[in-house]
Amino acid sequence: MARSEDKLNKLKEDLERVYAVPVMVITKDLALPGAPKEVYEEVKSAGLKIDILVNNAGVGSFGPFVSSDWKEQENMIRLNILALAELTRLFLPGMVSRRRGKIINLSSTAAFEPGPLMSVYYASKAFVLSFSEALSRELKGTGVTVTALCPGPTNTGFATAAKLKKSKLYKFFRATPAIKVAQYGIKAAENNKVVAVHGLGNKLLVAAIRFIPRAVVREIAWHLQGKTDKPQN
Ligand SMILES: NC(=O)c1ccc[n+]([C@@H]2O[C@H](COP(=O)([O-])OP(=O)(O)OC[C@H]3O[C@@H](n4cnc5c(N)ncnc54)[C@H](OP(=O)(O)O)[C@@H]3O)[C@@H](O)[C@H]2O)c1
Repeated sequence: MARSEDKLNKLKEDLERVYAVPVMVITKDLALPGAPKEVYEEVKSAGLKIDILVNNAGVGSFGPFVSSDWKEQENMIRLNILALAELTRLFLPGMVSRRRGKIINLSSTAAFEPGPLMSVYYASKAFVLSFSEALSRELKGTGVTVTALCPGPTNTGFATAAKLKKSKLYKFFRATPAIKVAQYGIKAAENNKVVAVHGLGNKLLVAAIRFIPRAVVREIAWHLQGKTDKPQN
């Protein structure tokens, strides 16, 4: 499920050819109010039961909040937070009643610190992490698990879409191939891992952040992110 119908249909063809499984494509802009419910209704009317829900769709935006395009920020909150929570709420009761299911929510290493120049994005990923952790506890013993997958910089279309090429942080870290992160995420969910930080470097980074004063973390993040789009004051 995504907005680009042509890419989804190509993926459907490839999956059906290689794995001989039926694939259903739903084209939807999940940032629109009501979209998650429409997806749920389409899945229901096709008679499908969802055992694995991967809340992957997410966007970022690089630049100072003060001069940001509000529509873009709002869409980010709708997609990264609201759609993820609503899809979870819609598909979860079926999983619980069948006593089986896996939910993988795409968080990020960004969830562990504030992100100057990407403030809303980092905060949205902190929501995903906290929500997933809390939900995983609520669901203990139900047969349904929740995994917050936390990758670092990954080689996808994300950096271009988020105008991240201007960020020093992105140049600083080597991006991981997406396939490695996806495989790690599936394995983590199979092992009922609640918080899955991909890669040793990211694990060390996330652990170190706990011991550094928050004011220092903010400064480091600000300097690493780069000052190219610094607000005037
Ligand atoms: N890449 C990284 O460095 C990185 C690091 C940590 C976490 N993440 C997280 O990983 C997840 C996947 O991102 P990615 O790196 O694969 O980025 P990406 O290449 O830009 O992919 C984003 C995906 O979300 C879909 N999408 C975007 N807006 C949508 C909307 N309004 N409605 C429905 N689908 C929408 C896109 O499809 P359409 O454009 O066709 O809609 C695409 O499939 C995101 O949640 C991101 O925050 C990425």
